[in-house]
Amino acid sequence: MCGIIGYVGKRNAVPVLLYGLQRLEYRGYDSAGIAVIEKTDRKIIVEKQVGKIKDLQEHLWNKKIEGHTALGHTRWATHGAPTIENAHPHTSQKGTISIVHNGIIENYLELKKELLDKGYRFKSETDTEVIAHLFEDLYTGDLLETAFKVAKKLRGAYAVGVISTYEPDRIIGIKKGSPLIVGLGKDENFIASDIPAVLEYTKDFIALDDGEIALVKTDSVEIFNINGKKIEKKPFHVTWDVSVAEKAGYKHFMQKEIHEQPRTIGDTITGFSSSKDDQLFCMLKDVDRLYIIACGTSYHAGLIGKFWIERFAKIPVEVDYASEYRYRDRIINENSVVMGISQSGETADTRFALLDAKKEGAKTISLVNVVGSSLSRETDYVLYTYCGPEIGVAATKTFTAQLVSLLLFALEAGVKKGTISFRDYEYIYNQLIHIPSKVEDILGKDDQVKEIAHRYMNASDFLFLGRNINYPIALEGALKLKEISYIHAEGYPAGEMKHGPIALIDEKMPVVCVAPKDRFYEKIFSNIQEVKARKGKVLSVATEGDSQIKQISDEVIYISQTIDPLYPILTVIPLQMLSYHIATLLGKDVDQPRNLAKTVTVE
Ligand code: AGP
Ligand code: GLU
Repeated sequence: MCGIIGYVGKRNAVPVLLYGLQRLEYRGYDSAGIAVIEKTDRKIIVEKQVGKIKDLQEHLWNKKIEGHTALGHTRWATHGAPTIENAHPHTSQKGTISIVHNGIIENYLELKKELLDKGYRFKSETDTEVIAHLFEDLYTGDLLETAFKVAKKLRGAYAVGVISTYEPDRIIGIKKGSPLIVGLGKDENFIASDIPAVLEYTKDFIALDDGEIALVKTDSVEIFNINGKKIEKKPFHVTWDVSVAEKAGYKHFMQKEIHEQPRTIGDTITGFSSSKDDQLFCMLKDVDRLYIIACGTSYHAGLIGKFWIERFAKIPVEVDYASEYRYRDRIINENSVVMGISQSGETADTRFALLDAKKEGAKTISLVNVVGSSLSRETDYVLYTYCGPEIGVAATKTFTAQLVSLLLFALEAGVKKGTISFRDYEYIYNQLIHIPSKVEDILGKDDQVKEIAHRYMNASDFLFLGRNINYPIALEGALKLKEISYIHAEGYPAGEMKHGPIALIDEKMPVVCVAPKDRFYEKIFSNIQEVKARKGKVLSVATEGDSQIKQISDEVIYISQTIDPLYPILTVIPLQMLSYHIATLLGKDVDQPRNLAKTVTVE
């Protein structure tokens, strides 16, 4: 995935683009570039740099580029290495049309061959460059009309921004599969991959749907479908401001987002309760099976959701990686319900798997953080987490909020189905509302966690163990550590360790054991002893007051006591803190780890 932005309006576009690109950098940071229709001679100037936006900014420092129609891009490479040649924007051979692209053009080889046969020369190895040449090749004298023709030739997923010296007063935005919004300003308008990119300038937006094309000028915005039919779309207004997307005194977004969790958990409890969709819960009464599909951290939330939904609502649940579910021989009927969990609501694997299931007749639910995201618009029912933007590539606050939403979903469905009593619901709910202050207590142990991180930061491997509802937390702890510190880590069900991974344990292996005082405590206690007997280093996450675990652990991080089903919302917090500290002590870029992007809009 990549971040794209476009500006047309009265001010100089360059600072607007650079500001916006910084806010889109979470989407990719292999290279960055801008294309500006120069104010005086109306030629397109393209400047690119490998690396981050700050490298592009330095590169532009002494260049006096001024223009009022322009595009910007921050890249996460899919086709071709992160080089200047492959960096976007890409320009047509005559230098008259420039484009930026997020996504993958699946038939680019076929199109490239046609264009090569016609004499077009390619400068990059990207799939994207075909779009620039196609625009030139099919140009009819009208950029919008040409866009309809080009869009019909492209296969795959894309959000594209186009500018041209032929018609320098406009930007064309095309969306299919990758996100694209239009920002509505006064004497200026924008296109962008995401809201924070232009939130400094406007709070009013139009979200494009797949197959739509926007014609954006200084004082007008028009939306069309791919056949040229004009579409009336209702703009939406966002209430949050740009400060939500800033670090607010923290060193990293990830650190800020970890520390925001008492608030985001609280907001999600309130948000869920005040926006209950009765129709959804009535529909669930007749459901015989629920499929949850997601990727990465959202998948781990799904695994925990399964425990709750099966326990409280007595609906059998299957959880699958979206990328696997999509290509399985699914058995779907009109009583099947498929829930997609996705922070961004734009993850291609999750979206496409859900769209396929919907086509086959399943009812669909999404659980997303980003309001107005594609997934939320494509499913029959939507549940939200109430976190505001999550910028750090590693998901933290949205994971705990997903847990809260899934728990409340399970409880609500249980009450509606009569599989739990209202009294039980209330009892759990009353425990849940104390979770934010218990999270706050854990966050207060930051110095202790940092010291532990210091002692183990040089380990080359980590094992994470948990049982039952805390087993997915072991998976999540391992994923967090891998993605931001690049240390190899594995999550395992503690009881399964003796069937293989125990062979890995020696005096160098740190083993993080998620061992709260729940009904599996004694079982995991025995598993920890098995680790200790093989001289492994034991780092336990345990319940306050458990002195017994101290005797078999090298380190213990205590969390407050709660009821069994709620432990995962607490036990994950020390693991987020541990990986954050290990990664920062190792000098890694925690907000933008190598090779990753916040939202993966390609398959
Ligand atoms: C989480 O830390 C990861 N960066 C990643 O696994 C992420 O959870 C996954 O890509 C799914 O994203 P989504 O929730 O936006 O769909
Ligand atoms: N496929 C394009 C490239 O590699 C865009 C990448 C993306 O959006 O992920 O440059």
